[in-house]
Amino acid sequence: MIARGTVTVPGDKSITHRALVLAALTEGGCELRGPLRARDTQATASCLRALGIHVGPLGRVVRIPGGGLRPFQAPSGALNCRNSGTTARILMGLLAAHPFRSTLTGDRSLRRRPMARVAEPLAAMGARITTTDGRLPATIEGGALRPLDYTSPVASAQVKTALLLAGLSGGARVSVVEPVASRDHTERLLRLVEAPLTVEGTRVTLEPVSALPPFSGDVPGDFSSAAYLLAAGLLAERGELTVRGVGVNPTRTGFLDAVARMGATLELTERWLSLGEPGATLVARPARLGALEVRADDVPRMVDEIPLLACLAARAEGTSVFRGVGELRVKESDRLALVAQNLEAIGARAWCENDTLWVEGGEQPLTGRIETAGDHRLAMAFAVLNVVPSARIEIDDMDCVAVSYPGFVADLLEVVHDT
Ligand code: S3P
Repeated sequence: MIARGTVTVPGDKSITHRALVLAALTEGGCELRGPLRARDTQATASCLRALGIHVGPLGRVVRIPGGGLRPFQAPSGALNCRNSGTTARILMGLLAAHPFRSTLTGDRSLRRRPMARVAEPLAAMGARITTTDGRLPATIEGGALRPLDYTSPVASAQVKTALLLAGLSGGARVSVVEPVASRDHTERLLRLVEAPLTVEGTRVTLEPVSALPPFSGDVPGDFSSAAYLLAAGLLAERGELTVRGVGVNPTRTGFLDAVARMGATLELTERWLSLGEPGATLVARPARLGALEVRADDVPRMVDEIPLLACLAARAEGTSVFRGVGELRVKESDRLALVAQNLEAIGARAWCENDTLWVEGGEQPLTGRIETAGDHRLAMAFAVLNVVPSARIEIDDMDCVAVSYPGFVADLLEVVHDT
C-alpha cells in the first residue's frame, strides 16, 4: 500500500463553532473564510439562525452580523443541536444570560451525554436550568448573572467555553480552573477581540466588557481531521503524504507527541498564524511503530485522537496502555468500550477496565465488521486501519463522517493506492 500526495483538510470544527458564536456577539459584520461545513457546525449555524442571528450559508466564506453581547431573540421551538456536544454546551452558556425560556435538545447520542457539568455552574451564576436527569432536553431560563469562580472537576473545553461566554454575555466576571488545561481556542478568539482575559496556569479569568469589535479571518484546517490521513501515511508501506493548512495549536497536538513516542516523526513545515492560531504543513512517511503509554495528564491534548491512536497501537510492537481515558465513555458513543470491542471484532487484542484501555500490537490480518454506533471518529479511525495490506474491514456506517469531515473517504482514496 502506498500513501502519496497532498491534501488540504477542512476547517477546524472547534474553531468554527466558537467563531460563529463569538461573531454573533460583536458589534458589526464578521467574515470567516474556510469554516467547517459539516453536520456539527451546521447545527450551530441553524441554532443561531433560530435565535435570530442572520448567519449566512456555510460556504467558502460565511458572514455573520454581530448583534452585541446579548443578541438572541426567543426561539419559536426547541433548539436541535443534533450530534454536537459543543453546540449544546456553548449555547447553554449563552442562553443563561438571555432573559427568556428556551429548550436545547439533540439526537440520541447527544441526549445520553452529561450536561450537569455545564448546567450546575451556570445555575450557580443564577440561571434556572432544568435537565432530564442531567442530560438533554434541557430548559434554560436566563437573566442577570452573578460572577463565578469555578474549579471544574473535568478538563473540558466545552465547559470552560460555556462559562466564559455566559460571563461575557451576562456582564459577569468568570474564572475557571481545570485539572489539566483543555484546548484554548476560545481564549485565543477572545484575545483577538481584545477581551480582558488572563491565564495563570490552568486558571482562565475573563472580566466583563461593554462591547466587542467585529473580526474576520481564515479558519485553520482541523488537526483532528488531518490526524487520520497522517496515520494512514504512517501505516502505508511506501510513499510520502502531505497535509496542508493544518492548525497546530499546542493544546490539540498531543497526537504528534504520541506518535513520536511510538517511533514515528511527523515533519512540520511552512508555519503560519491565523485567527490567533498557529498552523503548518505536516508530512507523514511509513514508520515502524512501538507501543505507547498515555498518562491521564496527556489526554486533553489528544482526547479526540485516542481511538485513532488505539488503532495504530494495534499495529505496533508491544502492548500499549491508555490511562485516564474515562471521558471517552461520554463522547458521541462509549468510545472506550467500542474501540476495544471493534478491535477484538477484527482479530486484534484490546480490553478496557474503568478508565484504562490496553491494546496489544500485532501483525495478524485484520478482518471483520465494525460497529460505529454512528460515531464519526470510530468510522474514520477504523477506515484508516484498512490501509494495512492484509486488512478487510467493513464499517457499518460511513455516512456519520459527515459530522466533522464530509469529504474524508474521497480524500483518503485520493492519497492511498495499491501500487
Ligand atoms: C471540543 C472539546 C473536546 C472534544 C470535542 C470538541 C470543543 O471535548 O472532545 O470533540 O470544541 O470544545 P471536551 O469538552 O471534553 O474538552
